[in-house]
Amino acid sequence: MSKRGKFITFEGLDGTGKSTQLRKLAAVVRAAGHKVVETREPGGTLTGEKIRKVLLDSGTAGLSPMAEMALMFASRAQHIAEVIEPALAAGSVVLCDRFTDSTEAYQGSGRRLGSHAVRELHRVLCGNLQPDLTILLDSDAGLSVSRARRRNKRALKVASRGHADENRFESETRAFFARVHEGYLAIAARDHGRVAVVDARGTPGQTHQKILEVVRRKVKL
Ligand code: TYD
Repeated sequence: MSKRGKFITFEGLDGTGKSTQLRKLAAVVRAAGHKVVETREPGGTLTGEKIRKVLLDSGTAGLSPMAEMALMFASRAQHIAEVIEPALAAGSVVLCDRFTDSTEAYQGSGRRLGSHAVRELHRVLCGNLQPDLTILLDSDAGLSVSRARRRNKRALKVASRGHADENRFESETRAFFARVHEGYLAIAARDHGRVAVVDARGTPGQTHQKILEVVRRKVKL
């Protein structure tokens, strides 16, 4: 039986460059000879990608905060059962773009549903699975959100060519993202052994170097 793999998650506000950084780390870990699974939430499975469409489509009107949180967890429970746990059992390094910290920051703080509900649901629905390391990309909240908005507007222009409309969260207010940011910092302060805050205000190359240093220090691959 192979040794259990490692579970590394990327977190941060929209537009902090999580997916770019995840790809860069995946390339390095793969080159070092490890099996790597790159995945994301909401999504990561066929069912999860359908749920993602409902959650992120700006045409989804009137979704209640509770329903939103439940859908995030529905996607996650399926993702753990179908992808994450089997990959970890097979010894892979699983790199995941967002996980339960996103729910705690966005639904718990942003939507004001509270951390307690999120943590309880995580315990019941996700077997309390904890990442070995979480990289929290931190940058100026206003800047990263406007970056994400520009990117998604561009995507919307080509929506007719098959790109999804993923704008529902980007149309939230500054105050919402300020709460999400505070929520993330509170998680990092509480779970400082697991969560490494990485300053993402430099170039992608600089941020990548900082991430490599954190991974080498914290995870035995
Ligand atoms: P993502 O595709 O990672 O967006 P971005 O690349 O812009 O960072 O995530 C989509 C959105 O879903 C993002 O606005 C955050 C939100 N989200 C939650 O609100 N709760 C969650 O549990 C997750 C996983 C994502």
